[in-house]
Amino acid sequence: MSRPTLLSIDLDALVHNAKLCQSLAAPSRFMAVIKADAYGHGAVPCARALRGIADAFAVALVEEAVELRAAGISEPILVMEGLFSADDMRHIVEHKLWPVIHSRHQLDYLSPEHHGTPLWLKIDTGMHRLGIEPEKLPQMLSRIRELGFSDITLMSHLGDAENPDTALSQRQIDAWQNITGQHSSVTSLCNSAAVAQRSVPESSWVRAGYMLYGGQTTPNPLPLKPVMSFQSAVMALRTIAAGETVGYGGRWCAQRPSVIATVAAGYADGYPRSAEDGTPVNIGGEIAPLVGRVSMDMVTVDVTDLPGVKIGTPALLWGASPTIDDVANRAGTIGYELTARMPPRTPRTYG
Ligand SMILES: Cc1ncc(COP(=O)(O)O)c(C=O)c1O
Repeated sequence: MSRPTLLSIDLDALVHNAKLCQSLAAPSRFMAVIKADAYGHGAVPCARALRGIADAFAVALVEEAVELRAAGISEPILVMEGLFSADDMRHIVEHKLWPVIHSRHQLDYLSPEHHGTPLWLKIDTGMHRLGIEPEKLPQMLSRIRELGFSDITLMSHLGDAENPDTALSQRQIDAWQNITGQHSSVTSLCNSAAVAQRSVPESSWVRAGYMLYGGQTTPNPLPLKPVMSFQSAVMALRTIAAGETVGYGGRWCAQRPSVIATVAAGYADGYPRSAEDGTPVNIGGEIAPLVGRVSMDMVTVDVTDLPGVKIGTPALLWGASPTIDDVANRAGTIGYELTARMPPRTPRTYG
């Protein structure tokens, strides 16, 4: 097939970012979050590339962990949504996974014969999504210990780690310090933004995802490398008169005679339909503005100021420039959503 639309995944960039994360997080141990198919980058190739750097991996679902085990990944794997049933616990034990216990009802899926399994106990410090209330922690811990489990890590998750000074962050950090002050335990709190900010109390483990893929989570960018490059090429060119519109609904209207390049990548390939006029697209090494609504299979770009553009000129939808965060900002979303939602239609190549 010769349609030029593809995702190029740079595993050297992943390794570079992971080493940076590891050095920022030290002396904490480094858990690489590779749920949702490594945020759309391919969980198995990413896990293989991160061997020897990551001390453990984290996924959301038991199924994701089983896929990694089937591919020969033998490092510890944390399953962050934990158990939906007793059957999940059977898979956890069989594949030597680490389950997160975030609710009282999940204790019903544990039995004393599983006591050798390490448990991560999630505490709700204020995000109010998953986790047990801090005041119920002593009771939970004694119930877990009664069942015979002794290898217990306390974890929580920050709802606004990008902004460590907000009331929410401060409340969560205070609650966390209170808990870890009372219970001596192995602990885990920080995600990418908390690692990047270095403003959150140290814990035994960090759980970092987005920064591994080159995503920025703080106003002062870290020297991260983009892992995913969304590439395509110009498939058609036309000149339109001032006053003509481009694409569905005629959203964009030319203010001057304009050259419009049609690029072979649309929302069915993973480019966000919500991208607004002016979203940067790299055409042959230069940035030009997206104009008109994103179609299912194509986008249109104003290349009037780029006279060298031809059929076949390479287009970069995101990667080094524009970055995924640049595009996400212009599409009313976050880079996490863009990479995690890349459809199977868009082939991936690894380098
Ligand atoms: C519980 C938990 N820990 C860690 C992470 C990693 O976060 P990030 O990708 O921002 O580093 C996530 C991601 O959503 C998460 O849900």
